[in-house]
Amino acid sequence: MSSEGLHESEERLSEHTKNMHRAIVSLIEELEAVDWYQQRAEGSTDEALRAVIEHNRDEEIEHAMMTLEWIRRNNPRFDANIRTYLLTSDPITELEEADTSGEAKDGAENASNSNSSSSSSSSSSANRPSGASAGKPQAASQKRGADGSLAIGSLKETL
Ligand SMILES: [Fe+2]
Repeated sequence: MSSEGLHESEERLSEHTKNMHRAIVSLIEELEAVDWYQQRAEGSTDEALRAVIEHNRDEEIEHAMMTLEWIRRNNPRFDANIRTYLLTSDPITELEEADTSGEAKDGAENASNSNSSSSSSSSSSANRPSGASAGKPQAASQKRGADGSLAIGSLKETL
């Protein structure tokens, strides 16, 4: 595997972990490109060049979101947190409390039971833009740990 980001020998890593590594590195690269294009567009003194760079920036945003969606479908903890924190207009810092108090449990329920086809409504999902409510969970190809947790520390280890 052509990557300097592995922190364990390749033979010790599962295909799932190596593919997740590829996706995470790709997401980082896409987001870096968004940042670069944004700055270059803003710094451009030529209007036509700025328009091209802004177009390219927006393409990178699309690429980033496509990659994030793959990550969500393949990691139940990402899935749960995306369902808690994304596509809602509720105050961001209040979402965790609402989630743990049982007001917005869609993501956690779906992540802990990837075979579940039910989807209950919650106060958070009520504030999601139309068409953006949480759909059926995608089957996670592999769960991590007994509780499915993936701490930031261990996430950094996969980069
Ligand atoms: Fe891209």
